Amino acid sequence: MPVLTNIGYLATCRGNGSQSDLHEIRDAALAWVDDQISWVGPQSSLPLEFSTEPTIDAGGRLVIPGLVECHTHLAFGGWRADEFEMRSLGKSYSEIARAGGGIRKTVRQTRQASKSELLEKSRSHLEAMRRLGITTVEGKSGYGLDRETELRILEVYRELEETQPVRIVSTYLGAHVVPDEFKADRKGYVDFICQEMIPTVAERGLADFCDAFLEEGAFGREECREILETGRAYGLKPKLHADQLSCLQGAELAAEVGAVSADHLEHASEAGVQAMREADVVAVLLPLASLYLGQPAANARRLIDSEVKVAVSTDFNPGSSPNFHLPLAMTLACSLCRMSPAEALKGATIYAAQAVDLQGQVGSLEEGKAADFAIIDAEDPNDWLYRFRPNACVATFIGGESVFTADEVI
Ligand code: NIG
Ligand code: FE
Repeated sequence: MPVLTNIGYLATCRGNGSQSDLHEIRDAALAWVDDQISWVGPQSSLPLEFSTEPTIDAGGRLVIPGLVECHTHLAFGGWRADEFEMRSLGKSYSEIARAGGGIRKTVRQTRQASKSELLEKSRSHLEAMRRLGITTVEGKSGYGLDRETELRILEVYRELEETQPVRIVSTYLGAHVVPDEFKADRKGYVDFICQEMIPTVAERGLADFCDAFLEEGAFGREECREILETGRAYGLKPKLHADQLSCLQGAELAAEVGAVSADHLEHASEAGVQAMREADVVAVLLPLASLYLGQPAANARRLIDSEVKVAVSTDFNPGSSPNFHLPLAMTLACSLCRMSPAEALKGATIYAAQAVDLQGQVGSLEEGKAADFAIIDAEDPNDWLYRFRPNACVATFIGGESVFTADEVI
Protein backbone atom coordinates (compact mmCIF):
# COMPACT_ATOMS: atom_id res chain seq x y z
CA MET A 1 0.00 0.00 0.00
CA PRO A 2 2.50 2.72 -1.07
CA VAL A 3 1.76 6.39 -0.40
CA LEU A 4 2.78 9.45 -2.39
CA THR A 5 3.22 12.33 0.05
CA ASN A 6 4.19 16.01 -0.01
CA ILE A 7 2.12 16.79 -3.14
CA GLY A 8 1.97 20.58 -3.46
CA TYR A 9 -0.98 20.56 -5.87
CA LEU A 10 -2.95 17.41 -6.65
CA ALA A 11 -5.20 17.89 -9.69
CA THR A 12 -7.77 15.13 -9.21
CA CYS A 13 -9.48 16.06 -12.52
CA ARG A 14 -12.80 14.54 -11.46
CA GLY A 15 -15.31 14.65 -14.28
CA ASN A 16 -18.07 16.61 -12.55
CA GLY A 17 -18.27 20.40 -12.63
CA SER A 18 -17.06 22.65 -15.39
CA GLN A 19 -14.11 22.11 -17.74
CA SER A 20 -11.93 24.33 -15.54
CA ASP A 21 -12.82 22.64 -12.27
CA LEU A 22 -9.85 20.40 -11.44
CA HIS A 23 -11.13 19.56 -7.93
CA GLU A 24 -7.59 20.15 -6.73
CA ILE A 25 -6.26 19.37 -3.27
CA ARG A 26 -3.27 21.28 -1.92
CA ASP A 27 -0.71 19.63 0.37
CA ALA A 28 -2.12 16.27 -0.54
CA ALA A 29 -1.30 12.57 -0.36
CA LEU A 30 -2.30 9.65 -2.56
CA ALA A 31 -2.33 5.96 -1.60
CA TRP A 32 -2.86 2.86 -3.70
CA VAL A 33 -3.24 -0.88 -3.29
CA ASP A 34 -1.99 -3.04 -6.13
CA ASP A 35 -3.03 -1.17 -9.29
CA GLN A 36 -5.87 0.91 -7.79
CA ILE A 37 -6.10 4.17 -5.90
CA SER A 38 -7.30 3.55 -2.35
CA TRP A 39 -7.18 7.03 -0.82
CA VAL A 40 -6.80 10.66 -1.98
CA GLY A 41 -6.95 13.71 0.28
CA PRO A 42 -5.11 16.36 2.26
CA GLN A 43 -1.98 14.86 3.80
CA SER A 44 -3.07 16.11 7.21
CA SER A 45 -6.04 13.69 7.02
CA LEU A 46 -4.02 10.67 5.87
CA PRO A 47 -5.51 7.73 7.82
CA LEU A 48 -3.20 6.20 10.42
CA GLU A 49 -3.20 2.84 8.68
CA PHE A 50 -1.16 4.42 5.84
CA SER A 51 1.44 6.04 8.06
CA THR A 52 3.61 2.94 8.29
CA GLU A 53 3.55 2.31 4.56
CA PRO A 54 6.49 3.01 2.23
CA THR A 55 6.27 6.58 1.03
CA ILE A 56 7.42 8.42 -2.06
CA ASP A 57 8.02 12.15 -1.63
CA ALA A 58 6.62 14.31 -4.45
CA GLY A 59 8.79 17.23 -3.29
CA GLY A 60 5.89 19.69 -3.10
CA ARG A 61 5.28 19.34 -6.84
CA LEU A 62 2.22 19.09 -9.09
CA VAL A 63 0.67 15.61 -9.42
CA ILE A 64 -1.75 14.86 -12.25
CA PRO A 65 -3.65 11.82 -13.51
CA GLY A 66 -1.62 9.98 -16.16
CA LEU A 67 -2.20 11.84 -19.43
CA VAL A 68 -4.62 10.19 -21.86
CA GLU A 69 -3.60 10.56 -25.51
CA CYS A 70 -6.94 10.00 -27.26
CA HIS A 71 -6.11 10.46 -30.99
CA THR A 72 -3.00 9.09 -32.69
CA HIS A 73 -2.12 7.27 -35.88
CA LEU A 74 0.62 5.46 -33.95
CA ALA A 75 1.70 2.66 -36.31
CA PHE A 76 2.96 3.67 -39.75
CA GLY A 77 5.86 3.03 -42.10
CA GLY A 78 8.35 5.78 -43.06
CA TRP A 79 8.10 9.54 -42.54
CA ARG A 80 7.28 12.51 -44.81
CA ALA A 81 9.88 15.19 -44.09
CA ASP A 82 9.91 16.07 -47.81
CA GLU A 83 6.28 17.20 -47.52
CA PHE A 84 7.10 19.35 -44.49
CA GLU A 85 9.63 21.14 -46.68
CA MET A 86 7.12 21.45 -49.57
CA ARG A 87 4.48 22.94 -47.26
CA SER A 88 6.98 25.35 -45.78
CA LEU A 89 7.66 26.54 -49.33
CA GLY A 90 3.96 27.15 -49.99
CA LYS A 91 2.32 23.91 -51.23
CA SER A 92 -0.88 23.00 -49.43
CA TYR A 93 -1.66 19.69 -47.68
CA SER A 94 -4.41 18.98 -50.25
CA GLU A 95 -2.19 19.77 -53.25
CA ILE A 96 0.46 17.36 -51.97
CA ALA A 97 -2.19 14.69 -51.41
CA ARG A 98 -3.63 15.15 -54.93
CA ALA A 99 -0.13 14.68 -56.37
CA GLY A 100 0.10 11.20 -54.77
CA GLY A 101 1.76 12.25 -51.50
CA GLY A 102 0.07 12.57 -48.13
CA ILE A 103 -1.77 9.61 -46.61
CA ARG A 104 -1.31 7.52 -49.79
CA LYS A 105 2.46 7.81 -49.55
CA THR A 106 2.39 6.52 -45.98
CA VAL A 107 0.07 3.71 -47.11
CA ARG A 108 2.69 2.57 -49.63
CA GLN A 109 5.42 2.68 -46.94
CA THR A 110 3.26 0.93 -44.34
CA ARG A 111 2.34 -1.92 -46.67
CA GLN A 112 6.07 -2.55 -47.08
CA ALA A 113 6.77 -2.55 -43.35
CA SER A 114 6.88 -5.88 -41.50
CA LYS A 115 4.95 -6.46 -38.31
CA SER A 116 8.14 -6.36 -36.26
CA GLU A 117 9.22 -3.07 -37.84
CA LEU A 118 5.86 -1.49 -37.02
CA LEU A 119 5.98 -2.98 -33.55
CA GLU A 120 9.44 -1.70 -32.65
CA LYS A 121 8.85 1.78 -34.07
CA SER A 122 5.55 2.13 -32.18
CA ARG A 123 7.09 0.71 -29.02
CA SER A 124 9.84 3.33 -29.06
CA HIS A 125 7.22 6.08 -29.43
CA LEU A 126 5.29 4.70 -26.48
CA GLU A 127 8.46 4.62 -24.38
CA ALA A 128 9.07 8.28 -25.13
CA MET A 129 5.43 9.11 -24.43
CA ARG A 130 5.46 7.58 -20.98
CA ARG A 131 8.43 9.77 -20.11
CA LEU A 132 6.12 12.73 -20.78
CA GLY A 133 3.54 11.42 -18.27
CA ILE A 134 1.30 9.72 -20.85
CA THR A 135 -0.24 6.48 -19.57
CA THR A 136 -3.03 5.66 -22.07
CA VAL A 137 -2.76 5.94 -25.87
CA GLU A 138 -5.35 5.46 -28.59
CA GLY A 139 -3.93 4.21 -31.90
CA LYS A 140 -5.72 4.09 -35.24
CA SER A 141 -5.18 1.87 -38.23
CA GLY A 142 -5.67 3.57 -41.60
CA TYR A 143 -2.26 3.35 -43.28
CA GLY A 144 -2.79 -0.16 -44.59
CA LEU A 145 -6.27 0.01 -46.10
CA ASP A 146 -5.96 -3.49 -47.54
CA ARG A 147 -7.06 -6.42 -45.40
CA GLU A 148 -3.62 -7.74 -44.60
CA THR A 149 -2.01 -4.46 -43.57
CA GLU A 150 -4.97 -3.11 -41.59
CA LEU A 151 -5.08 -6.33 -39.58
CA ARG A 152 -1.29 -6.18 -39.14
CA ILE A 153 -1.53 -2.68 -37.63
CA LEU A 154 -4.34 -3.70 -35.28
CA GLU A 155 -2.39 -6.80 -34.25
CA VAL A 156 0.59 -4.56 -33.49
CA TYR A 157 -1.65 -2.60 -31.10
CA ARG A 158 -2.82 -5.81 -29.47
CA GLU A 159 0.76 -6.99 -29.02
CA LEU A 160 1.79 -3.61 -27.59
CA GLU A 161 -1.08 -3.81 -25.13
CA GLU A 162 0.26 -7.17 -23.96
CA THR A 163 3.98 -6.41 -23.89
CA GLN A 164 4.51 -2.85 -22.59
CA PRO A 165 2.89 -0.84 -19.77
CA VAL A 166 1.08 2.03 -21.55
CA ARG A 167 -2.63 1.23 -21.89
CA ILE A 168 -3.64 0.92 -25.56
CA VAL A 169 -7.01 1.64 -27.19
CA SER A 170 -7.43 0.50 -30.81
CA THR A 171 -9.46 2.14 -33.53
CA TYR A 172 -10.18 0.79 -37.00
CA LEU A 173 -9.82 3.64 -39.53
CA GLY A 174 -10.28 1.85 -42.85
CA ALA A 175 -12.08 4.99 -44.05
CA HIS A 176 -8.95 7.16 -44.10
CA VAL A 177 -8.74 7.53 -47.91
CA VAL A 178 -9.87 5.35 -50.82
CA PRO A 179 -6.78 3.29 -51.72
CA ASP A 180 -5.38 3.38 -55.26
CA GLU A 181 -6.65 -0.11 -56.14
CA PHE A 182 -10.26 1.07 -55.54
CA LYS A 183 -9.88 4.48 -57.21
CA ALA A 184 -12.40 3.62 -59.91
CA ASP A 185 -14.76 1.92 -57.47
CA ARG A 186 -15.41 3.94 -54.31
CA LYS A 187 -18.55 2.00 -53.54
CA GLY A 188 -16.57 -1.22 -53.79
CA TYR A 189 -14.19 0.08 -51.11
CA VAL A 190 -17.02 1.15 -48.76
CA ASP A 191 -18.60 -2.30 -49.25
CA PHE A 192 -15.24 -3.94 -48.51
CA ILE A 193 -15.02 -1.95 -45.24
CA CYS A 194 -18.61 -2.74 -44.24
CA GLN A 195 -18.92 -6.33 -45.43
CA GLU A 196 -15.44 -7.68 -44.89
CA MET A 197 -13.24 -5.56 -42.66
CA ILE A 198 -15.62 -4.44 -39.90
CA PRO A 199 -16.96 -7.97 -39.32
CA THR A 200 -13.41 -9.40 -39.24
CA VAL A 201 -12.03 -6.70 -36.93
CA ALA A 202 -15.00 -7.10 -34.58
CA GLU A 203 -14.91 -10.89 -34.60
CA ARG A 204 -11.19 -10.92 -33.73
CA GLY A 205 -11.70 -8.27 -31.04
CA LEU A 206 -9.02 -6.11 -32.67
CA ALA A 207 -10.62 -2.67 -32.13
CA ASP A 208 -12.93 -0.83 -29.75
CA PHE A 209 -13.74 2.04 -32.11
CA CYS A 210 -14.45 2.70 -35.77
CA ASP A 211 -13.33 6.06 -37.18
CA ALA A 212 -13.76 7.78 -40.56
CA PHE A 213 -12.24 10.82 -42.26
CA LEU A 214 -15.03 13.05 -43.57
CA GLU A 215 -13.34 15.42 -46.02
CA GLU A 216 -13.05 16.42 -49.65
CA GLY A 217 -10.62 13.85 -51.09
CA ALA A 218 -11.45 11.33 -48.35
CA PHE A 219 -15.06 10.22 -47.62
CA GLY A 220 -18.47 11.88 -47.96
CA ARG A 221 -21.17 12.19 -45.29
CA GLU A 222 -23.29 9.27 -46.42
CA GLU A 223 -20.25 7.03 -46.85
CA CYS A 224 -19.10 7.89 -43.33
CA ARG A 225 -22.60 7.36 -41.95
CA GLU A 226 -22.85 3.90 -43.50
CA ILE A 227 -19.40 2.91 -42.23
CA LEU A 228 -19.94 4.21 -38.69
CA GLU A 229 -23.42 2.70 -38.42
CA THR A 230 -22.12 -0.65 -39.65
CA GLY A 231 -19.26 -0.44 -37.15
CA ARG A 232 -21.72 0.28 -34.36
CA ALA A 233 -23.87 -2.70 -35.32
CA TYR A 234 -20.73 -4.82 -34.82
CA GLY A 235 -19.92 -3.23 -31.46
CA LEU A 236 -17.29 -0.74 -32.67
CA LYS A 237 -18.06 2.66 -31.16
CA PRO A 238 -18.07 5.57 -33.65
CA LYS A 239 -15.54 8.41 -33.86
CA LEU A 240 -15.18 10.94 -36.66
CA HIS A 241 -12.46 13.16 -38.18
CA ALA A 242 -14.80 16.11 -38.68
CA ASP A 243 -14.65 19.58 -40.24
CA GLN A 244 -10.83 19.78 -40.32
CA LEU A 245 -10.14 21.45 -43.66
CA SER A 246 -13.69 22.46 -44.62
CA CYS A 247 -17.18 22.48 -43.10
CA LEU A 248 -18.98 19.33 -44.25
CA GLN A 249 -21.37 19.19 -41.26
CA GLY A 250 -19.12 16.63 -39.60
CA ALA A 251 -20.06 17.76 -36.10
CA GLU A 252 -23.74 17.20 -36.96
CA LEU A 253 -23.00 13.74 -38.37
CA ALA A 254 -21.01 12.79 -35.27
CA ALA A 255 -24.03 13.69 -33.14
CA GLU A 256 -26.45 11.86 -35.47
CA VAL A 257 -24.53 8.58 -35.31
CA GLY A 258 -23.94 8.88 -31.54
CA ALA A 259 -20.17 9.22 -31.89
CA VAL A 260 -18.08 9.12 -28.72
CA SER A 261 -15.96 11.96 -30.13
CA ALA A 262 -15.68 14.33 -33.07
CA ASP A 263 -12.08 15.30 -33.74
CA HIS A 264 -10.43 18.40 -35.33
CA LEU A 265 -13.51 20.69 -35.74
CA GLU A 266 -11.61 23.75 -36.99
CA HIS A 267 -14.55 24.49 -39.33
CA ALA A 268 -17.48 23.11 -37.30
CA SER A 269 -20.78 24.94 -37.74
CA GLU A 270 -22.75 26.49 -34.90
CA ALA A 271 -25.57 23.97 -35.41
CA GLY A 272 -22.97 21.19 -35.25
CA VAL A 273 -21.64 22.45 -31.92
CA GLN A 274 -25.17 22.52 -30.48
CA ALA A 275 -25.85 19.01 -31.80
CA MET A 276 -22.64 17.77 -30.15
CA ARG A 277 -23.70 19.24 -26.81
CA GLU A 278 -27.10 17.58 -27.00
CA ALA A 279 -25.59 14.19 -27.90
CA ASP A 280 -22.68 14.56 -25.39
CA VAL A 281 -20.06 14.06 -28.12
CA VAL A 282 -16.58 14.98 -26.84
CA ALA A 283 -14.74 17.51 -29.03
CA VAL A 284 -11.11 16.48 -29.55
CA LEU A 285 -8.91 19.44 -30.49
CA LEU A 286 -5.58 18.86 -32.20
CA PRO A 287 -3.64 22.15 -32.23
CA LEU A 288 -0.38 20.53 -33.38
CA ALA A 289 -2.07 19.57 -36.68
CA SER A 290 -3.19 23.18 -37.15
CA LEU A 291 0.31 24.36 -36.33
CA TYR A 292 2.01 22.01 -38.82
CA LEU A 293 -0.52 22.79 -41.56
CA GLY A 294 -0.26 26.53 -40.92
CA GLN A 295 -3.99 26.88 -40.31
CA PRO A 296 -5.96 28.67 -37.63
CA ALA A 297 -6.61 26.34 -34.69
CA ALA A 298 -10.11 25.40 -33.52
CA ASN A 299 -11.75 27.80 -31.10
CA ALA A 300 -12.21 25.97 -27.81
CA ARG A 301 -14.01 28.90 -26.21
CA ARG A 302 -17.15 28.57 -28.27
CA LEU A 303 -17.25 24.81 -27.56
CA ILE A 304 -16.73 25.24 -23.81
CA ASP A 305 -19.21 28.13 -23.68
CA SER A 306 -21.71 25.79 -25.38
CA GLU A 307 -21.03 23.17 -22.68
CA VAL A 308 -19.27 20.75 -25.02
CA LYS A 309 -16.48 18.81 -23.29
CA VAL A 310 -13.16 19.53 -24.99
CA ALA A 311 -10.32 17.00 -25.10
CA VAL A 312 -6.79 17.81 -26.30
CA SER A 313 -4.58 15.44 -28.27
CA THR A 314 -1.58 15.44 -30.61
CA ASP A 315 -3.00 13.61 -33.69
CA PHE A 316 0.47 12.03 -33.92
CA ASN A 317 0.94 10.91 -37.56
CA PRO A 318 3.69 11.23 -40.20
CA GLY A 319 1.94 14.02 -42.14
CA SER A 320 0.00 16.71 -40.32
CA SER A 321 1.52 16.12 -36.87
CA PRO A 322 4.81 14.22 -36.67
CA ASN A 323 4.93 15.00 -32.97
CA PHE A 324 3.64 13.13 -29.91
CA HIS A 325 4.38 15.80 -27.31
CA LEU A 326 1.03 16.03 -25.57
CA PRO A 327 2.18 18.68 -23.04
CA LEU A 328 3.19 20.84 -26.05
CA ALA A 329 -0.28 20.31 -27.55
CA MET A 330 -1.72 21.41 -24.18
CA THR A 331 0.34 24.60 -24.15
CA LEU A 332 -0.80 25.27 -27.74
CA ALA A 333 -4.41 24.54 -26.72
CA CYS A 334 -4.00 27.47 -24.32
CA SER A 335 -2.31 29.90 -26.69
CA LEU A 336 -4.01 28.94 -29.98
CA CYS A 337 -7.40 27.42 -29.00
CA ARG A 338 -7.96 29.74 -26.02
CA MET A 339 -8.25 27.22 -23.24
CA SER A 340 -7.00 27.93 -19.74
CA PRO A 341 -4.26 25.59 -18.45
CA ALA A 342 -6.79 23.99 -16.09
CA GLU A 343 -9.17 23.38 -19.01
CA ALA A 344 -6.35 21.90 -21.10
CA LEU A 345 -5.43 19.58 -18.22
CA LYS A 346 -8.98 18.30 -17.86
CA GLY A 347 -8.93 17.97 -21.66
CA ALA A 348 -5.90 15.68 -21.60
CA THR A 349 -7.13 13.58 -18.68
CA ILE A 350 -10.77 12.93 -17.81
CA TYR A 351 -12.34 14.26 -21.03
CA ALA A 352 -9.72 12.49 -23.15
CA ALA A 353 -10.63 9.34 -21.19
CA GLN A 354 -14.26 9.96 -22.11
CA ALA A 355 -13.21 10.31 -25.77
CA VAL A 356 -11.99 6.70 -25.59
CA ASP A 357 -14.82 5.60 -23.28
CA LEU A 358 -12.45 4.81 -20.41
CA GLN A 359 -13.66 7.50 -18.00
CA GLY A 360 -14.67 4.81 -15.50
CA GLN A 361 -11.11 3.50 -15.24
CA VAL A 362 -8.60 6.27 -15.96
CA GLY A 363 -8.34 10.05 -16.36
CA SER A 364 -8.87 11.17 -12.75
CA LEU A 365 -7.36 10.48 -9.34
CA GLU A 366 -10.20 8.99 -7.35
CA GLU A 367 -10.61 5.99 -5.11
CA GLY A 368 -11.16 2.83 -7.16
CA LYS A 369 -9.60 4.15 -10.37
CA ALA A 370 -6.30 3.01 -11.84
CA ALA A 371 -3.19 4.27 -10.04
CA ASP A 372 -1.95 6.04 -13.19
CA PHE A 373 -0.32 9.38 -12.37
CA ALA A 374 2.60 11.67 -13.12
CA ILE A 375 4.70 13.96 -10.95
CA ILE A 376 5.39 17.24 -12.74
CA ASP A 377 8.10 19.71 -11.80
CA ALA A 378 5.75 22.68 -11.47
CA GLU A 379 3.75 24.46 -8.79
CA ASP A 380 0.39 24.11 -10.50
CA PRO A 381 -1.09 23.72 -14.03
CA ASN A 382 -0.58 27.41 -14.86
CA ASP A 383 3.10 27.24 -13.98
CA TRP A 384 3.53 23.96 -15.91
CA LEU A 385 1.92 24.88 -19.23
CA TYR A 386 3.10 28.49 -19.25
CA ARG A 387 6.76 27.64 -18.69
CA PHE A 388 6.81 24.93 -21.36
CA ARG A 389 9.94 22.78 -21.20
CA PRO A 390 11.15 19.75 -23.21
CA ASN A 391 10.09 17.56 -20.31
CA ALA A 392 8.86 18.68 -16.90
CA CYS A 393 7.76 15.16 -15.96
CA VAL A 394 9.71 13.76 -13.00
CA ALA A 395 8.04 10.36 -12.69
CA THR A 396 5.24 8.31 -14.25
CA PHE A 397 3.27 5.46 -12.68
CA ILE A 398 0.90 3.07 -14.44
CA GLY A 399 -1.26 0.74 -12.36
CA GLY A 400 0.77 1.69 -9.31
CA GLU A 401 4.08 0.67 -10.93
CA SER A 402 6.87 3.11 -11.70
CA VAL A 403 7.43 3.25 -15.48
CA PHE A 404 9.68 6.32 -15.62
CA THR A 405 11.91 8.31 -13.28
CA ALA A 406 13.78 11.34 -14.59
CA ASP A 407 17.51 11.69 -13.96
CA GLU A 408 17.06 15.42 -14.35
CA VAL A 409 14.36 17.80 -15.47
CA ILE A 410 15.12 19.48 -18.79
O1 NIG B 1 -5.79 13.36 -38.53
N1 NIG B 1 -7.05 13.70 -41.11
C1 NIG B 1 -6.65 12.59 -41.45
N2 NIG B 1 -5.61 11.99 -40.95
C2 NIG B 1 -4.53 12.63 -40.33
C3 NIG B 1 -3.50 13.06 -41.30
C4 NIG B 1 -2.84 11.89 -41.81
C5 NIG B 1 -1.65 12.14 -42.70
O2 NIG B 1 -1.43 13.24 -43.23
O3 NIG B 1 -0.95 11.15 -42.86
C6 NIG B 1 -5.03 13.72 -39.42
O4 NIG B 1 -4.65 14.89 -39.53
FE1 FE C 1 -6.14 12.11 -37.15
